[in-house]
Amino acid sequence: MEKEKLKIAVQKSGRLFDDSIGLLRKCNIHINNGRDQLKASASNFPVEVLYLRNSDIPNYVESGVADLGIVGENLLVETGKEVEKVLPLGFSKCRLSIAGVKGRPLRDLKDLEGKTIATSYPNTLRSFLDENQISASIHTISGSVEIAPNIGLSDYICDLVSSGSTLFKNGLEEKVVLLKSQACLIQKKSLSPEKEAIRDKLVFRIEATLQAKLNKYILMNVPNGKISDIIELLPGMKSPTVMPLAVEGWSSVHTVIQEEEFWEILARLKEHGAEGILVVPIEKMIL
Ligand code: PRP
Repeated sequence: MEKEKLKIAVQKSGRLFDDSIGLLRKCNIHINNGRDQLKASASNFPVEVLYLRNSDIPNYVESGVADLGIVGENLLVETGKEVEKVLPLGFSKCRLSIAGVKGRPLRDLKDLEGKTIATSYPNTLRSFLDENQISASIHTISGSVEIAPNIGLSDYICDLVSSGSTLFKNGLEEKVVLLKSQACLIQKKSLSPEKEAIRDKLVFRIEATLQAKLNKYILMNVPNGKISDIIELLPGMKSPTVMPLAVEGWSSVHTVIQEEEFWEILARLKEHGAEGILVVPIEKMIL
């Protein structure tokens, strides 16, 4: 009998594709990247990857065609499908925002009253307008939303903003942020115990990979008289490792620090006498 496989839906093309496949690869799951095929099995892990249109993924996961999916939170909010969020994945960070012509500030949300807003996110926009008791007309279009104000189709747009360069190129600026989004792993409401066990193994690998990305391993040489000062500066996982060097009076101090704080900490370590500081990427990290 063929062993049970977990079906995971990923974007066939678009902003999430590279990072989704890259994440699975970093979890040591070997799959064909399959741009020309609709599904591919991993050779060393019981998953089958389904390459689907982004907008269809929440639906396929809700109906159980796929067990898991990788999608942007923006799409989950828009489609309102009954799926469970398993964990945020830290990539494809963006905002869903209302934008308008540069240099015409929106002083108050009430300035949107009676205006036309073009979007591919009509449900999210409708909820936002209703919550704020604004009556505006929504023009739903499926792509190239940012062109709408320039061709007289709408006064504003409501679209995804990441770097902001699309808005900039079209003479638009962000006025109001409706929601912040990133890619996340979703699953259908109930999985068989066998599939739950595979999901747990996959989530364990993903978490170890994401943790590793957020942290750096650092090692440095420290005069023994300065070790306690240096340890004070290190947030570390538990307590740093301190090992004597071959040179009398010096030690090697090793620890793990979060990527976001390491520039500030590095400068302070140097000021407090650390030398030969090395910062090394971490392959996997289990807390
Ligand atoms: C989104 C959005 C904008 C662009 C914004 O499109 O619709 O066009 O990204 O990104 P930026 O702020 O970095 O310029 P996406 O690439 O997701 O494709 P889509 O047109 O299919 O929505």
